[in-house]
Amino acid sequence: MALSHELMEQLKAAGQNELAQYLQIAQESTAKKLAEQLKQIDFEELAALTSESETSESTRDYTKLVPPQAVRLKDQDPAKMAEARQVGDKLLTEGKVAALLVAGGQGSRLGFDHPKGMFPIGPVSSKTLFQIHFEKIVARGRRYGKPIPLYLMTSPATHEETIEFLEKHDRFGMAKEDLHIFCQGTMPAIDLQTKQLLLAEKDSLALSPDGHGGMLAALVKSGCLEDMTKRGIEEIYYFQVDNPLADVCEPELLGLHHLAESEMSTQVVAKKLPEEKLGILAQLDGKLQLVEYSELPAEQAAETIEDGTLKHWAGNIAVHGVKKSFLDRMATLAGSLPWHKAIKKVPFVNPAGDVVEPLEPNAIKFERFIFDLLPQAKNPLAVEVDPALRFAPVKNADGAQSDTPQACKEALCEVARRWLKECGVSCATDRQVEISPLAALDAGQLKQRLAEKPALAQADLIDD
Ligand code: UD1
Repeated sequence: MALSHELMEQLKAAGQNELAQYLQIAQESTAKKLAEQLKQIDFEELAALTSESETSESTRDYTKLVPPQAVRLKDQDPAKMAEARQVGDKLLTEGKVAALLVAGGQGSRLGFDHPKGMFPIGPVSSKTLFQIHFEKIVARGRRYGKPIPLYLMTSPATHEETIEFLEKHDRFGMAKEDLHIFCQGTMPAIDLQTKQLLLAEKDSLALSPDGHGGMLAALVKSGCLEDMTKRGIEEIYYFQVDNPLADVCEPELLGLHHLAESEMSTQVVAKKLPEEKLGILAQLDGKLQLVEYSELPAEQAAETIEDGTLKHWAGNIAVHGVKKSFLDRMATLAGSLPWHKAIKKVPFVNPAGDVVEPLEPNAIKFERFIFDLLPQAKNPLAVEVDPALRFAPVKNADGAQSDTPQACKEALCEVARRWLKECGVSCATDRQVEISPLAALDAGQLKQRLAEKPALAQADLIDD
């Protein structure tokens, strides 16, 4: 079938001759469907990506990385933290804060065939990750008398099921007008050797989500950035779906970030072992940036300082404070985020029309990471937090060495036990306890609830 002349020229100019030939002999319906997908592709960008042999990460001099300046846990000044809390409280009371949740990943490492947010994780209640996050946001909004809007990013693979699930559960108490679900874009995968576009089916390109950095473009395209403007949002609490310990919209982080006039802040935990799969925050050429764990050479990851701790200690837990005005500025700068390449196994359709399941990595996928905005942010800030209280991601299936559901459930119980202890309620160290976000968001609020209702049994608090 005769495809538009322009599309054919674009394909050829981008070096995509295999697909151009295929389209010339393909059936009309096949060519039409492929043409629709091809229209979404920026061919100049694709040509640049397929021709470049070096990437920003492969040219980085990792020996020059310097540990970041950070608000360290051991140096935290109670007066400064109290001031930060007040500032955060004020932002929340004035309705200037939004939550931004990235949930487009497919959770393949976890072996869960649904959006990860649907994974049950409450140790007593079996609440899903989504329910825990949503209840935190709803409870925080009630506490400050101003609902907090949630902008939730999905990907084509998780979009429909996420909407259906959340609607079925009445958005776990969140008002319809406060929830904005938007879908990230995709990028085509290319053959590792030939750099030609791969087909997932006879009439469909092999596409995959464009990384959480795709959020920037998707926020604009979906109208979510505009919606934030209308609502008067000034600060955004950004987090990942896999960490139920994220203290969503916590005033201390928002306050520290705001007081520092930081455009982008990051919570970090002190890495203990070089092999922990955490990106690290470091200075390079005077700029604070994030180096992904897969890109940090083993030698640098293992470097230690005099006291034996890791030199590159600042592990990224992917919780950021982000100024809305910073996103506005970045959204207008084309290419404000670089592409990262990941070499993966991608099933594809060969010229004979058969689906090939590769045994070895055969393709390059392209992703953008939101944290690559950091070097462009004014006054970027790193804030250390206690992993026992803030970080227990669910990444791998039970049986793996770390980041399993079992480890996460234990971490949730431990937080509940600590809060109860602070309230003077003793609790055996092996007791399974869970505190609903709707009952209390922190130990202070729990104390208040117990004081209001002294007869409240522990069991009542466990699941509101
Ligand atoms: C991520 C961070 C890493 C950090 C760690 C902490 C990246 C690239 N790395 O690693 O620096 O130390 O978390 O837990 O993020 N997502 C999308 N769309 C996508 C891809 C991912 O929305 O296209 C979402 C996922 O749903 C998830 C989050 O981004 O919520 C992180 O993705 P994941 O692939 O799990 O990152 P990690 O390798 O665990």
